[in-house]
Amino acid sequence: MVRLPFTSSTRSVPEAVAVPRHIAIIMDGNGRWARKRLMPRVAGHAKGVDSLREVIRTCLDRGVEYLTVFAFSSENWRRPQDEVSFLMQLFVKSLKAEIDRIHRNNIRLRVVGDLGRFDKALVDLIRDGEALTAGNTKMNLTICANYGGRWDILQAVEKMIATEPERRSGFSEDDLAPHLALSFSPEPDLFIRTGGEKRISNFLLWQLAYAELYFTDKLWPEFGEAELDEAIASYQGRERRFGRTSEQVGGPSGPSESGHA
Ligand code: IPE
Ligand code: IPE
Ligand code: MG
Repeated sequence: MVRLPFTSSTRSVPEAVAVPRHIAIIMDGNGRWARKRLMPRVAGHAKGVDSLREVIRTCLDRGVEYLTVFAFSSENWRRPQDEVSFLMQLFVKSLKAEIDRIHRNNIRLRVVGDLGRFDKALVDLIRDGEALTAGNTKMNLTICANYGGRWDILQAVEKMIATEPERRSGFSEDDLAPHLALSFSPEPDLFIRTGGEKRISNFLLWQLAYAELYFTDKLWPEFGEAELDEAIASYQGRERRFGRTSEQVGGPSGPSESGHA
């Protein structure tokens, strides 16, 4: 069986560290940001790229190891055709403009999702960026594009079954996890959604099982270093029990015990 680099938060107790190792973000509110300024919605998407650049830089500074962002959901194809094409063009343009900076900063880029529906030019650009940065070690930046949490679980189940076609039962989480899109990373410690909505919108359904959830009314184009620090501070005030009692963990302000249950 394939060994997992990271075990599941529902099967063992991960160490709770002060700076989240993995932050996952739903970057929402671009359209409303633009509308408030009487600009077309797409102007908000363009501005959102600046926020992402600042958040990447801040994560690097703070020592976050994994940053995963939701750029385009499997449901976003339902948007008006011109908004979808603008987003695709913006993806191409931003990748071209930023990939050298990403590489210089020792960041490894991955794009996960069902890329089959994207133009070949975009897919080639993605694969080139991934290959260029494959040896980088400071931080892992993962962009979820045409991603859906249910798609992820289903594609993982299919791959898991394909590894042992004759097997009918007795599958465990550890059998499935290596086939999920983020199998290279620990599960997110901190989930952030900007834009005021309090929902997951089919983002990382499996992986968010024990993430700390943080929702802010700030719209994505307004979200930057100070706002990210606020989210991290909120995370640092949480008690991550992973099913245990507060006493076992060491109390709300006590030392965190990382022992395995
Ligand atoms: C998020 O901002 C970006 C994408 C979904 C691509 P929205 O475009 O959803 O902005 P709002 O929610 O309409 O304000
Ligand atoms: C979620 O935002 C997807 C991304 C940010 C890429 P949406 O704005 O599409 O989510 P809903 O539809 O309001 O839930
Ligand atoms: Mg939205």
